Amino acid sequence: MTTRNTLAFDTATARRIEANYLTPEVVAQRREIMRRLELKPGEHVIDIGTGPGLLTDEMARAVGPGGRVVGIDLSNEMLAMSRVRCAAQAWVELGQADAVTLPFAKATFDAAVSAQVYEYVGDLARALAEARRVLRPGGRLLVLDTDWDSIVWNTSDRPRTTRMLTAWKEHVIHPHLPRTLGRRLKDAGFVVEDIGVFTLVNSEYGQHTVSHGLAALMAAFVPGRQGISEAEVAAWVADLRELGAADNYFFSLNRYLFLARNP
Ligand SMILES: C[S@@+](CC[C@H](N)C(=O)[O-])C[C@H]1O[C@@H](n2cnc3c(N)ncnc32)[C@H](O)[C@@H]1O
Repeated sequence: MTTRNTLAFDTATARRIEANYLTPEVVAQRREIMRRLELKPGEHVIDIGTGPGLLTDEMARAVGPGGRVVGIDLSNEMLAMSRVRCAAQAWVELGQADAVTLPFAKATFDAAVSAQVYEYVGDLARALAEARRVLRPGGRLLVLDTDWDSIVWNTSDRPRTTRMLTAWKEHVIHPHLPRTLGRRLKDAGFVVEDIGVFTLVNSEYGQHTVSHGLAALMAAFVPGRQGISEAEVAAWVADLRELGAADNYFFSLNRYLFLARNP
């Protein structure tokens, strides 16, 4: 079996992801993360895979200047966006690091968050062990990840859409992580306190919707995988546009949220 590259978080991808994360659906998803995390002023938090820094920024507002928010990411392009976004908050620290080797002492943080990151991490057992190590006893970890089989998308050619989605699954290492994440967290020594689901739904193909942004990410990633050509991708996107124009559009996707405690 040949190994294909997963998604590269370069400048173009970082911009697409940032735009996607500013859609109302993903804004609501962040609100849900914040609701479950229940951050208090003065708390110390780590954002593992900070990305464009939108969640980092919200967490910084919640803990306030008496708190501390650390964001780590592998991608310099993503970190650059986070630095601009969080520039006014001196209690935010951003740096390049890998989720599998967090450069912090044991029991440094009250809370840790990793949203849409662990599905990209090969050695997940090590990443979860690291998250637990840097949490104080009683500290919590909030993980959000997608099961990419949870997509329901109205399209005119279902076999073509299935091939598109199969190729898109190659963008991550664990396309079905939520199914096994509970077990993996327990194996890492966490107590799983709650598992929830947040559904993203679109009934139109507007430019400022999560599925429009996802289609753009897929259109850039998929050509050449699963025998899919540029022309086929263009036809698939045109179909979405036509269904939108005919007021016959439907998309939904589940994001799963795990709240785990370091006992
Ligand atoms: C889809 S983005 C999510 C960003 C952010 N957590 C959010 O929800 O807004 C995934 C991020 O994970 C980062 N990432 C992937 N693998 C990583 C690893 N092993 N260690 C640290 N960051 C990683 C990527 O560079 C990217 O910024």
